[in-house]
Amino acid sequence: MSEAEQLTFEILPNPRARSAEQRAALMEDPAFGQVFTDHMATVRWSAAKGWHDAQIRAREPFQLDPACAVLHYAQEVFEGLKAYRAPDGGITLFRPQENAGRFRESARRIAMPIMPEALFLQAIEELLRVDGAWVPTREDGSLYLRPFMFASEAFLGVRPASEYLFCVIASPVGAYFKGGMKPVTVWVSDDYSRAGPGGTGAAKCGGNYAASLVAQAEAIRHECDQVVFLDAAEHRWVEELGGMNVFFVFDDGSMLTPPLHGTILPGITRDSILTLARVAGRPVEERKYSIDEWRADAASGRLREAFACGTAAVISAIGEVRSSEGHFKINGGIMGETTQSLRAQLVAIQRGAAEAPADWVRRVPLG
Ligand SMILES: Cc1ncc(COP(=O)(O)O)c(C=O)c1O
Repeated sequence: MSEAEQLTFEILPNPRARSAEQRAALMEDPAFGQVFTDHMATVRWSAAKGWHDAQIRAREPFQLDPACAVLHYAQEVFEGLKAYRAPDGGITLFRPQENAGRFRESARRIAMPIMPEALFLQAIEELLRVDGAWVPTREDGSLYLRPFMFASEAFLGVRPASEYLFCVIASPVGAYFKGGMKPVTVWVSDDYSRAGPGGTGAAKCGGNYAASLVAQAEAIRHECDQVVFLDAAEHRWVEELGGMNVFFVFDDGSMLTPPLHGTILPGITRDSILTLARVAGRPVEERKYSIDEWRADAASGRLREAFACGTAAVISAIGEVRSSEGHFKINGGIMGETTQSLRAQLVAIQRGAAEAPADWVRRVPLG
């Protein structure tokens, strides 16, 4: 059984790779998650062979047996991170080791094999060496990377599969929200929770997102950008958004974000903001915050700003909160100073325009 930390990737160039002109046209206004690069990285795992069969090959549909375990039992985990064009033309990744670690923990929770961190990073970097021209040069652009792994064994029966396929695909992207930097409106879900104690909330597994979609659809019906989930037990404590963590900023300059107790995703952007705030000497608490406190603090003016954060949109101000109990605005519905400055600081670090704490920016060796 191969437990190799790294493998040799077989490089199989895509004979139908797009020309430089076609690529440029596709990258002009790529929106989010609509355009994909020419290749993908794949690595197989089986109980007999461990990690094997590492390839960079043409991005194309998989052939799946109808009994493929993921189609029935949803054994699937994924990650999301971005590659950036550095000021000198090179390519960088933002804290990819954190994604590798979270991927490992997600896999552990869903009873999947553990991919060595070095192999996870290698697969991403091998793909970037072949598809590096797809990393946008425009200021608001980046190449969104989606590593994922699913149970590929064909069988019916509830048990962990004995075969898996790991894959990385890449998509050049612009702004995540259609309104760009415009503050988002969020919908507080009454009827649905995202995750419960002992569940899979801290894992980035597809099943969590499937469970969130009906609430997200409800948010869209109420003309909101994202759903806010409250805790499953008391339906009182703010947990996170459908695809982002949440922060609150108060009139004394302090900040608060809900704590990681297993029901919310440990966001890498969340962790980066906590670090930057602490380095700047700003008081930040990780503690429970109820929807009633949120409403009361917004009404009294104690709450000055609220923002959502995640890899896709970085930081988005929350301008309005809607729920069955009424609507309220935050900071008059406009982006506040703290949100703006944290966003600018993080974006500058991610794009290599500002000094970052050690290990945050990883340069991809291209040559
Ligand atoms: C449910 C959820 N919460 C939070 C986040 C933010 O995590 P990160 O900052 O690592 O992108 C994401 C995005 O990955 C998410 O899907």
